[in-house]
Amino acid sequence: MTKESNNQAVIQIRGVTKLFGDKIVHDGIDLDVYQGEILTLMGGSGSGKSVLLRSLIGLEKPDAGHIYFRGNDIVGLSEENLVEVRKRIAYVFQYGALFDSLTVRENLAYPLRAHTKLSEEEIQKRVFDTLKKVGLEHSLNLLPSDLSGGMQRRVGVARSIILEPEVILYDEPTTGLDPYNTKQILNIILQLKKQGATTVLVTHDMHAIFTVTDRVAFLKDGKIRALGTAQEINSTKDPVIQGFIQGESW
Ligand SMILES: Nc1ncnc2c1ncn2[C@@H]1O[C@H](COP(=O)(O)OP(=O)(O)OP(=O)(O)O)[C@@H](O)[C@H]1O
Ligand SMILES: [Mg+2]
Repeated sequence: MTKESNNQAVIQIRGVTKLFGDKIVHDGIDLDVYQGEILTLMGGSGSGKSVLLRSLIGLEKPDAGHIYFRGNDIVGLSEENLVEVRKRIAYVFQYGALFDSLTVRENLAYPLRAHTKLSEEEIQKRVFDTLKKVGLEHSLNLLPSDLSGGMQRRVGVARSIILEPEVILYDEPTTGLDPYNTKQILNIILQLKKQGATTVLVTHDMHAIFTVTDRVAFLKDGKIRALGTAQEINSTKDPVIQGFIQGESW
């Protein structure tokens, strides 16, 4: 039990089953994500981590089951209602997914112009303050192509959080980054948690798991095979999980 267990569940996944053709990706998954925690999804390639993340914002539709966000089932919501959900649950794309032809400033202003009624002055302030959170306030007028891969990733995080979401989903945010940029991204994830964000993280990076994670859910064969703190998962006697951690089944 972690201290988060006493808190309220922000997301409740109940009996989620997902099929692609005759392949069962999720086979009745139950999982809670608690207020303010960092929950990491671990598991082999193809175990359904990304599909589960995408399901949390309605980009994938479960074939059965429910996903409650603050008590409301998002399964079956219309696209219009999902837009509202996606303002409150941000999805950080692996490679930033920035608009190449827009400056950093305009990339960040874009969601604000699309989804809020903020004044131009408020937009500029929010853009600056958000870039500052990822340490890139000096890059306002640069184009994505002027930035290193690590900086682009940080701008991508900034754009994902500019609507001040309650939940942030990261799909392999440090994959392919050097140790310096990996540390920067992990620090940002921790900072955002300190500011109250609830986090679901998908990563293969064991160091990341041990430095930032409150709990780990291990996916295998469509089910949550183990759920616990990083230490509990690391010390499990389950040979499948041990094999994975030791790098046998990557
Ligand atoms: N749109 C789709 N159509 C058909 N099959 C899909 C689709 N999306 C995912 N899958 C399948 O669902 C399974 C789970 O995919 P998912 O992307 O969630 O895996 P993952 O755990 O994120 O793997 P990785 O670590 O490689 O990113 C895989 O077998 C994948 O091929
Ligand atoms: Mg994936």
